[in-house]
Amino acid sequence: LPDRAIKKSRSAQISTVRLLLSIRRCSVAVELFLSLHRLLPWCSRVLWRLNFCFLFPCVCLLKTWPLHQGKLLNLCEKATRGHPTEMLLFLAVYVGPIVVAGISLCILYFMKSSKELPKNWDELVTEAWFQYHGVRGLAEDRINSRYNVVELFKQPGRVAVMTGGNRGIGLKIVEKLLECDMTVVLGVRNVESSRRAIAKEIPEEKSAGKLFLEQLDVGSMDSVRKFAAEIKKKYRKIHILINNAGIMAAPFALTEDGFESQMAINYLGHFLLTHLLLPEIVAAGEADRHSRIVNVSSCVHLMGDIDYENFHGSKSYYGATAYNQSKLAQILFTKHLQGLLVDRKLPVQVHACHPGVVDTDLFIHSSSTVIPWFKKALFKNPEQGSRTVVYAAISPKLEGKGGSYLSNCRLHRTHPMAKDPAACEKLFDYTKELLKIGDFGLPQ
Ligand SMILES: NC(=O)c1ccc[n+]([C@@H]2O[C@H](COP(=O)([O-])OP(=O)(O)OC[C@H]3O[C@@H](n4cnc5c(N)ncnc54)[C@H](OP(=O)(O)O)[C@@H]3O)[C@@H](O)[C@H]2O)c1
Repeated sequence: LPDRAIKKSRSAQISTVRLLLSIRRCSVAVELFLSLHRLLPWCSRVLWRLNFCFLFPCVCLLKTWPLHQGKLLNLCEKATRGHPTEMLLFLAVYVGPIVVAGISLCILYFMKSSKELPKNWDELVTEAWFQYHGVRGLAEDRINSRYNVVELFKQPGRVAVMTGGNRGIGLKIVEKLLECDMTVVLGVRNVESSRRAIAKEIPEEKSAGKLFLEQLDVGSMDSVRKFAAEIKKKYRKIHILINNAGIMAAPFALTEDGFESQMAINYLGHFLLTHLLLPEIVAAGEADRHSRIVNVSSCVHLMGDIDYENFHGSKSYYGATAYNQSKLAQILFTKHLQGLLVDRKLPVQVHACHPGVVDTDLFIHSSSTVIPWFKKALFKNPEQGSRTVVYAAISPKLEGKGGSYLSNCRLHRTHPMAKDPAACEKLFDYTKELLKIGDFGLPQ
């Protein structure tokens, strides 16, 4: 490098060091002031962390950088002059320890959680992609946070049916629907404990709408049939169906029907429920105000694949792979069903959505549970997570835009397979056969 370039880069480093040092001095002064006066202790803690985790290491690194840079330039020069061993030595000394420390941290992080460790190369690659999509989802949530807004408005007399809802994102969806003065019917596994959990979060005097709870285990097709029969007895019209219940990266388990549990809960149970309730959903739709079905999918559907040879994990099983597959299945289902409804000229529209990366118990089998403050600091909270789902269910802006996939209350790109009608139809027919459904949405 020419001398002038080196001088320029050094003076830039010196100004950066000066800037960081002055920020550090200011933050130390503020920190001292705050801790002395015992004001806002959390603020003091944040500054302390900022100092030790970020500013202090940065200053140290930048202060010694000219020394490292000199060595690096020297080694680079030698390497380009035919001394590749010098370069390798440099990499081994400087980069090697960082890589080893990173890998050790990842292993430690995985071992402390209940998450299954990847057992082979394919699973390792899947895990890496899964983490990549998670981080990307987090970044997208931050960038698009200003769009993540839903306008609530009164809609008395409208009926919404939802699976789950006793905790997590579902609980906040219920809160919003009740604020809209709707009648909300929840399908939950344990009616009594759910009633208590909901009453704690949404006091009756605060909610305008009416809330009813029915027993439902979405993973059991028998339970889905009983739940649907109960709902059909009580309601002639269903304006909104939200397929929300879900589990993620659970250890391998088969349901009573012999289906892999994530596939059964996230996709098959909801497919059957939609089929059984479709006549009531159609009855509620109007030409200028369609009734809606919302499938709560996930951004990781983007890396999913439908493996018909191993649909229930009988040949091999990795939690993340099965989750991605079930979430992709929801997307393909959304696309195909929308086409079917348009062909039959029915006043119903279907949406799929990604609620965001949200701090809920869904991550119970995930490595992120090891660092709870990480989730608190970076993930959306359940209220923010509920917005896109409610937006998909009620926003007038989506009228006539069925078949879309939403994230942060905006249309979002989806898996290429969703653009292939043959692929969507193949999965739809396969699922109908699996669940012994004749004509979808018509009484058997
Ligand atoms: N959190 C995220 O970052 C995220 C990201 C993308 C997509 N999602 C999707 O958002 C949806 C809600 O997730 P969440 O984050 O709110 O998770 P959560 O806090 O773990 O809540 C899951 C809900 O599903 C219910 N559920 C699970 N298995 C069920 C079954 N067999 N029958 C009936 N209900 C069942 C749970 O009820 P119990 O109390 O009875 O278990 C609970 O109400 C899921 O479909 C999930 O895949 C979440």
